[in-house]
Amino acid sequence: MRVTLSVIKADIGSVGGHIKPSEKLLSRVREFVEEEGRKKGLIEDFYIFHTGDDVAILMSHKRGVANPDVHKLAWDAFRAGTEVAKSQGLYGAGQDLLKDAFSGNIRGMGPAVAEMEFEERPNEPFLFFAADKTEPGAFNLPLYLAFADPMYCSGLILSPSMANGFKFTIMDVNYTEGDRVIELNAPEELYDIAALLRDNERFVVEKIHSRRTGEIAVAASTTRLHNIAGKYVGKDDPVMLVRVQGDFPATGEVLSAFSIGHYVAGFMRGSHNGPLMPVKLNSTISFFDGPPIISCAAFCVHEGKLTEPVDCFDHPFWDYIRMRVSEKALELRRQGFSGPAMLHYSELEYGGIVEKMKKLEERFKVRG
Ligand code: F6R
Ligand code: MG
Ligand code: MG
Repeated sequence: MRVTLSVIKADIGSVGGHIKPSEKLLSRVREFVEEEGRKKGLIEDFYIFHTGDDVAILMSHKRGVANPDVHKLAWDAFRAGTEVAKSQGLYGAGQDLLKDAFSGNIRGMGPAVAEMEFEERPNEPFLFFAADKTEPGAFNLPLYLAFADPMYCSGLILSPSMANGFKFTIMDVNYTEGDRVIELNAPEELYDIAALLRDNERFVVEKIHSRRTGEIAVAASTTRLHNIAGKYVGKDDPVMLVRVQGDFPATGEVLSAFSIGHYVAGFMRGSHNGPLMPVKLNSTISFFDGPPIISCAAFCVHEGKLTEPVDCFDHPFWDYIRMRVSEKALELRRQGFSGPAMLHYSELEYGGIVEKMKKLEERFKVRG
């Protein structure tokens, strides 16, 4: 059967700062999707969890991508959750719901969306990634390494089904008039792909397809909240779906690039660089409102029904990685505001510094 996987996620309020949603909020969202979605046959199955302060709804259904009813279900579930957030005095209640009325597609309304439709293989494993305190470009390097670099993905050398490589669809997320995208093929156009993906703020992997079969492998969210709201309203914490095994990289090949703990934008006030830490499902946020975190749940889907999730970063190996990433975080934090510790002026998420710079500009004098 043809199945659609839709992930829709939003920050609709959290306990004690930007740490985690309350249990009551999560229960409400779960109950809403169960009653209004699964029981009514709109969706086949769903799974809900949080990464830091973001709530993600993973849904399987038969309605294709960008389905207005499925998007509305998620939107209404987040609104129901927001009511709970308000009733409990949670911080940032409804923060990512940037529009008042639903208009058919949740894209451009605040929540992040990643969706893919495909013909189910007889066995269909996939990974669901969710990050907090960072931006969509955080996935650029891991996706490049997993789908285009045999140093990380040995399947590119060993598996005949991957020998033709993958097609990357990359979006210019600074362009706001519409979706500005380019398609590039690995391995022939590797240097062009790298030239774009080094720029995490602007160029973001939206999709990856197998070149042998044309099948979709990756769908990632590309939302820039700043571009929707015109001001800082929170970081664009991304989500993505990755099909694995067979014609695609193995689960472990996709996970391997996350052992780097590469530096990404985000962290405190969405205005710093910090290493991306792989964490267990339902982890919270702590040191310097971070560090930026990434969680991964592995599933299989059959006739639209999801198995239970496996927590990919809940393994002794990743405890060691977390220690190393903590060291990387501390090392960069030691230099506070200086140089690469903080983002470039144009990427700072708070307007206060703009006002400050305006005042200081007036006081500059040019010596004769
Ligand atoms: C980063 C983030 C937090 C907040 C910080 C200040 O994405 O959510 O680091 O920016 O806690 O929050 P406000 O401005 O809401 O007081
Ligand atoms: Mg938040
Ligand atoms: Mg968040």
